[in-house]
Amino acid sequence: MKIPFSRPSLGPRETEAVARAIAEGGIGGNGEIGRRVEARLRELCDARHVLLVPSATQAMDVAFMAFGLEPGDEVLMPSFAFVSQANAILARGARPVFCEIEERTLNMCPEDAAARITPRTRMIMPVHYAGVSCDLDAFTALAERHDLILFEDAAQAIGSSHRGRALGTIGDAGCISFHVTKNVVAGEGGCLILRDPEIAAAAEIIREKGTNRSAFLRGEVDRYTWVGPGGSFVLSDLLAALLEVQIERIEELTRARLDVWNVYHAGLEELEKDGLVVRPVVPAETRHNAHLYAIRARTRGQREHLLAGLRAEGIEATFHFQPLHAAPFAIDTFGRGESLRVTEAAAETLVRLPLHPGVSTDDAEHVVETVIELCHD
Ligand SMILES: Cc1ncc(COP(=O)(O)O)c(C=O)c1O
Repeated sequence: MKIPFSRPSLGPRETEAVARAIAEGGIGGNGEIGRRVEARLRELCDARHVLLVPSATQAMDVAFMAFGLEPGDEVLMPSFAFVSQANAILARGARPVFCEIEERTLNMCPEDAAARITPRTRMIMPVHYAGVSCDLDAFTALAERHDLILFEDAAQAIGSSHRGRALGTIGDAGCISFHVTKNVVAGEGGCLILRDPEIAAAAEIIREKGTNRSAFLRGEVDRYTWVGPGGSFVLSDLLAALLEVQIERIEELTRARLDVWNVYHAGLEELEKDGLVVRPVVPAETRHNAHLYAIRARTRGQREHLLAGLRAEGIEATFHFQPLHAAPFAIDTFGRGESLRVTEAAAETLVRLPLHPGVSTDDAEHVVETVIELCHD
C-alpha cells in the first residue's frame, strides 16, 4: 500500500470546466472567469479587494510594488517560512529580518519581532503556518503602535479564520496560494487581498503590465494605456476555470482533510502523553483548514528513524522548512546571524504526515499505527 504525501482532488467537474473554457476560447488573463472567481473569493473571505495572480509569490511581488517597498526598508518575517517572502522582499532592494517562532504553533513570535523593530522597519509579515492563525491580536497591535504595514502570508490558509474573520483579510494585505499542494488548487495560482482602495488600484495597474486595462474592461475608460511600472501578473482563465470548481468544493475538500487530521490527532494523543512526540496546537481563536499535519520528534535521530520507517511502509512523509537565516545564500548575503533556537529545533525534528482528500480513514489509521510502532522501536 502506498500513501502519497500530497495529491489534488480533481474530478469530472474540473475537467468539464477546463474543457468549456477551451471550447469558448476565453483563456486569457484577467478574463470573465477570473473576475467571477475574484467576486466569489471576496464573498467567501469577506474581503474588500481580491486580485487573482499566478502564485502567492507573485501576490507578494505585486503588493510590495504597490506599497512602495524600497531599498533600505526592513521587513520582519519568520525564518521558519517558505523562501518566497524573502525573495520578494529582496526583489525590492529591501531586507528580510528573520524572527524567531513560538514553540506552541511554530508561528512568528510577536515579542521577538517587536525586539527587532528599527527606524527602517516598514512591514511585519507573519505566516499562518499549517493554516493555523499566528498571534494576529499581538501583530495588529504592534503594527498599529509602530505604524507598520501588516501583511499576512496566508498561502496555506484558505478557509481558516481568526475570531471568525478569514485569514489574509485582517492585516493591510494578505496572500493565499492555489498551488497544487494546497487545499484548493489551480495547479499554480494565488490571490492578493487588500484593504486600502488606493493600494488596490495601484496593484491592479501593476498586475496588468503597468496599464489601466482593468479600468478599460470595466468600461471606465475607452482605451487602455501605460500609466506606470508593472509586470505580467494575471492568471489565465484556463486555471481560473479549474479554481472556480475547487472553490465551489471548498467545504467538501476541507472536511475531507479535517477527517484525516482528526484521526492523526486522536491516534497520536497517547504518544504525546508518553513524551514521544509533540502534536500540533490550534489556539481557541482559530478555526483551521487542516492544511497539513506536522508532529515533532524528540531528536533529529528519532525524526530520521520515523521518516525512514514511514517510507519503508510506503507512507510518504517529509519535513520542511529549512531555516532561511541559516541557508547558504542568507549567510553569504547577510552574514552568519545569531542562532534561532526554536526555529532550528523545529526544522530538525518536524515530520509531516500525508494529508490530502485522498487519504482514507484506513490509510490514516495505518499511518498512526506505523508512527506508534516506530516510536517504540
Ligand atoms: C507559507 C508559504 N508562503 C508562500 C508560498 C508560495 O506560494 P506559491 O507557490 O503560490 O507561490 C507557500 C507555498 O508553498 C507557502 O507555504
